[in-house]
Amino acid sequence: MKIVDIAEVSKYVGKEVVIRGWVYNHRSSGSIQFLLIRDGTGRIQGVVARDEVDEGVFELSDRLTMESSVEVVGVVREDERAPEGYELTIKDLKVFQVADDDYPIQKKSHGVDFLLSNRHLWLRTERQVAILKIRARVMKASCDFFDDRGFVRVDAPILTPSACEGTTTLFETNYFGEKAYLSQSGQLYNEATIMALGKTYCFGPTFRAEKSKTRRHCMEFWMVEPEMVFYDLNDNMKLQEEYVTYIVEEVLEHHQGELTVLDRDIEPLKKVKPPFPRITYKEAIELLKSGGFDIEYGASLGADEEDAISKKFEKPVFVHHFPAEQKAFYMKRDPQDETLSLSVDLLAPEGYGEIIGGSVREESIEVLRERMKMEGLPEEPIRWYLDLRRYGSVPHSGFGLGIGRTVMWICGLKHIREAIPFPRLLGRIYP
Ligand code: 4AD
Ligand code: MG
Repeated sequence: MKIVDIAEVSKYVGKEVVIRGWVYNHRSSGSIQFLLIRDGTGRIQGVVARDEVDEGVFELSDRLTMESSVEVVGVVREDERAPEGYELTIKDLKVFQVADDDYPIQKKSHGVDFLLSNRHLWLRTERQVAILKIRARVMKASCDFFDDRGFVRVDAPILTPSACEGTTTLFETNYFGEKAYLSQSGQLYNEATIMALGKTYCFGPTFRAEKSKTRRHCMEFWMVEPEMVFYDLNDNMKLQEEYVTYIVEEVLEHHQGELTVLDRDIEPLKKVKPPFPRITYKEAIELLKSGGFDIEYGASLGADEEDAISKKFEKPVFVHHFPAEQKAFYMKRDPQDETLSLSVDLLAPEGYGEIIGGSVREESIEVLRERMKMEGLPEEPIRWYLDLRRYGSVPHSGFGLGIGRTVMWICGLKHIREAIPFPRLLGRIYP
């Protein structure tokens, strides 16, 4: 007899199959029991009829609790009334373990803290399974996109002596008596690897000790960071819009079922096609002012401001040319106006805010040194980085896309905590 995934049962109508999984619900109406079984690939209703099975099987089935692990043998039937369209007439049953009868996650709604404390179990719910599958697709689509366009994946170290994104959000560790930090971004290392390979990307976890609680910040998040020699700001934005479009297309193509589970309206996602609108930071400020925001040129855009801007557009929108003083030391200034940086953020629509941050990088060693001095950044830990400007420096640019933020947007989630398997949030590191 064949062991099959529930997702494949449509190929076995009328046949006897073996299914292994967990009982996520159990109802009994005297002589018939209904076992709802899930196996990670799908769900199916199993029917155990007293007249049709050995007495031992019926009794065993009667003892099953929520989340008990089982192997069932049964015949697949097409059934319009069944939620998934198929039903299993169970003939035999084996139990791996009868779950303790106090499974914490029940059908009723639970508070967020409770769910987060039980994240290891919360993950088993249909909604979380759908999100995890979409997250995996976003990660796969990211690698496919860059691999197919001549990028070489070169991963950056996680332990590093340097700060890429400012010194206020560093997680410090003790590296045999020396200070080391968990990486905030692989970018500086990408800038080294492109000088060897032309176009590279790194993809891994990054860390920021963000001391504020928001819907879109995690302490640990995964980031895809491509870096390209000879790309200017325009080339950079073009690549971003193709990349984001590709991710959305892949999710729409492969995950209609999951998007339905999530109740995600897919109409806005279908509109994600190049070109994306582009506005300057200055235009963004004007847009906000005309929308009643009390904001002045020079202020950084917070979550509320980003929400408001992104709601004005149906597609993701680029905001570019931020004031240089707001941005990181490595960003090149606009030769037309030295107060501006050649920087760009991509804001997701529907109020989701920034999902990508990118820029053209400063290629002159003198300018870099000066900026680092102004910002009080020590040269020693990134002497190697300055070498890149001494031996064949070239114009280059890159960006970083946050996987959690992107999944949050595509899935239509209210909070980033559901977009990552085990979120690290302010004051929470369990489980
Ligand atoms: O804008 P950021 O800080 O850019 C960089 O780190 C650059 N060095 C990337 C590069 O050019 N290679 O971060 C990039 C993206 C943000 O747009 C956001 O999607 C995500 O990383 N991000 C976070 N996601 C979740 N939680 C946080 N605390 C995040 N901080 C940034
Ligand atoms: Mg940013």
